[in-house]
Amino acid sequence: MTTISDPILNAALAAREHAHAPYSNFCVGAAIEDDAGRLHTGCNIENATYGLTLCAERVAVFKAVSEGAHGFRRIAIAADTDTLTPPCGACRQILWEFCGDIQVILVNPRGKTETLKLKDLFPRAFDGSFL
Ligand code: THU
Repeated sequence: MTTISDPILNAALAAREHAHAPYSNFCVGAAIEDDAGRLHTGCNIENATYGLTLCAERVAVFKAVSEGAHGFRRIAIAADTDTLTPPCGACRQILWEFCGDIQVILVNPRGKTETLKLKDLFPRAFDGSFL
């Protein structure tokens, strides 16, 4: 079970404060925990060309991988919505590539949380096993 005092939730909420989202005003934070228990954070980073925008989840994963982290246990995703915000389709594909059937914890600033499994969000994934 995840409680609101869990550091991964606070890390995702804190990362959200760094979001660069002047176009959508939709700020997202993410924190991913590696096998060593280390947390890696990310926020969404938008661009005037829109299409170059990066989601918080991908920033967190790519930062972690670029620093040599591997083997991930869970990711927390923070956004200010009452219906908790799930990862977009592109992020589900990236999470599957690096994390497999990871635990996905959604959280909002009022402490509402929901824990899901990536496989339930992203069934019958395409991955390297087909190549
Ligand atoms: N966004 C994320 O960072 N993660 C999600 O899971 C959903 C969407 C961002 C991308 C864009 O900057 C803004 O939210 C609106 O789509």
